[in-house]
Amino acid sequence: MRGLLGIQDLPRTEIERILDTAEAMVEISQREIKRVPTLRGRTVINLFLEPSTRTRVSFEIAAKRLSADAINVSSSGSSLSKAETLADMGQNLAAMNADVLVVRDRTAGVPKMLADRLPMPVINAGDGCHEHPTQALLDVFTVRQSLGTLDSRVVAIVGDISHSRVARSDIHAFTKMGAEVRVAGPPTMLPAGIDVLGVKACFSMEEALDGADVIIMLRIQRERLEQALFPSVREYSLTFGLNLRTLALAKPDAIVLHPGPINRGVEISGEVADAEPSRILDQVTNGVAVRMAVLYLVTGEQA
Ligand code: CP
Repeated sequence: MRGLLGIQDLPRTEIERILDTAEAMVEISQREIKRVPTLRGRTVINLFLEPSTRTRVSFEIAAKRLSADAINVSSSGSSLSKAETLADMGQNLAAMNADVLVVRDRTAGVPKMLADRLPMPVINAGDGCHEHPTQALLDVFTVRQSLGTLDSRVVAIVGDISHSRVARSDIHAFTKMGAEVRVAGPPTMLPAGIDVLGVKACFSMEEALDGADVIIMLRIQRERLEQALFPSVREYSLTFGLNLRTLALAKPDAIVLHPGPINRGVEISGEVADAEPSRILDQVTNGVAVRMAVLYLVTGEQA
């Protein structure tokens, strides 16, 4: 693998290779001494120019469990505040012989721009409304862990589809893996023509969740909204929130995912987030294994 910029151009065989590698990584995190020497002497730079808890911490843990040196860089305290360009900053990080650059940015296309200029593999940790590939991989991994095969499973993605990089990467990942994908939300949050991605657009929870095996709830991306896209949080929650009543619309053994951070009482009720069908914390656990697998694969081909 020469970096990981998105799921859109990743063949199913590559997705399966990453998931299978992640299976082998799970066991490392269950040991008393959670460390193997695989990437000893390698340097991973985590450049996070947008807030993150799960992705940033799990990439750092993943690098350390493989014995790589993990260096975290954020916008505050960096020379971006002195008008250095991202491209120049990337060249400087590369000049320190870093082996991998993990990057999150609020602007779509930044990881690709850096990958085109830098000699080391770049991993996209979320770029604007574009893609969040490792989130989609850990989502698919989590569903595969719970349900086995994804072929013909019905996956409903509910919420702010327009502004969600997770939705975009999940759509690519789950359709490639053979699932039937539905997206649902208010019309203001569903991009026109989204059906060209091979998904069904739904405008009610009843339509989206009928017969669903997997429900993926999304947060409203307030940081990316220029105007209100729904009348009130209460109305949004009543119409598109997941609670015990709306959960009952799906299959009885349906599972619930959410990339986090969750907004309890808005898109998901606390009683669903904390209940048995929820796989939200499994997603977080699996995120470490999936990111270990991605770091291993992008550095392995260089060795
Ligand atoms: N799912 C996700 O990307 O969470 P963070 O923003 O906390 O990294």
